[in-house]
Amino acid sequence: MKNAPIGVFDSGIGGLSILKALRAELPHESFVYIADSGNAPYGEKGDDFVIARSRALTSTLIDQDGHYKVKALVVACNTATAAAVKLLRAEYPNLPLVGVEPALKPAVQLSQTKRIGVMATRGTLESTKFAALKASLADQAEFILQPCDGLAAAIETQNTPKIIALLAEYTPTIGQFGTKNGQIDTLVLGCTHYPFISDLLRVHTGADVHYIDTGEPVARQTRRLLEAAGTLITSPDLGDLQLFTTGDLPSFAPLTKLWLNLPDTAIISKI
Ligand code: DGL
Repeated sequence: MKNAPIGVFDSGIGGLSILKALRAELPHESFVYIADSGNAPYGEKGDDFVIARSRALTSTLIDQDGHYKVKALVVACNTATAAAVKLLRAEYPNLPLVGVEPALKPAVQLSQTKRIGVMATRGTLESTKFAALKASLADQAEFILQPCDGLAAAIETQNTPKIIALLAEYTPTIGQFGTKNGQIDTLVLGCTHYPFISDLLRVHTGADVHYIDTGEPVARQTRRLLEAAGTLITSPDLGDLQLFTTGDLPSFAPLTKLWLNLPDTAIISKI
């Protein structure tokens, strides 16, 4: 069990931003990543769809003839976490499970102006889980929420003109960015796809605004859960990586190799 991999899934490539942090924090662990690109995006499809996909991917990672048999699961998708993590925890009570949610708490700590922008999918921002998180911090900062319909899909398909057009539409409605009083000095990237477009976002926010994503805290939480379960690998060997997509392999494979800095020989498969 200790040598079993850690399962990670997202609606597509977004979770690679989490996987990168996981591999940096836990280099001796093995990972199996599934990008559900064939069903992406999740953000505008509603809870029933996202729950069904989350269940199907989890069962692939957990049950399938013991083939992967992961020892822990990271739901590397804010939208899937919001819709399905409670249910997955109930269905797999013995599985160490880490979800991701928009990092509002770290944003409150970092922000001086206490005006914080939150970009995420509609599914995440309209969830009861997110409403509870926001309500718990409502007296500490003002949060300006921006549902970014279409943005994860444009990132997924690497449609740069579309990404640029959507950012030009969404960022002005969040408000004025900057570090002066009344300005938004901190931006929460509440979808795991968004760290990949931070350069394009900078055009709109300027260089001084803090961007907050969840890769590193999620990786540290995963380490804590493995330690608590006694399944953290202690051998010095580097872990393995298996990557799968339910979508188009020729577009997923090169992107993944580039972002994770993998050798050309890395094997990435269609599932
Ligand atoms: N990357 C996912 C998230 O963190 C989902 C984006 C989508 O599929 O809409 O929310």
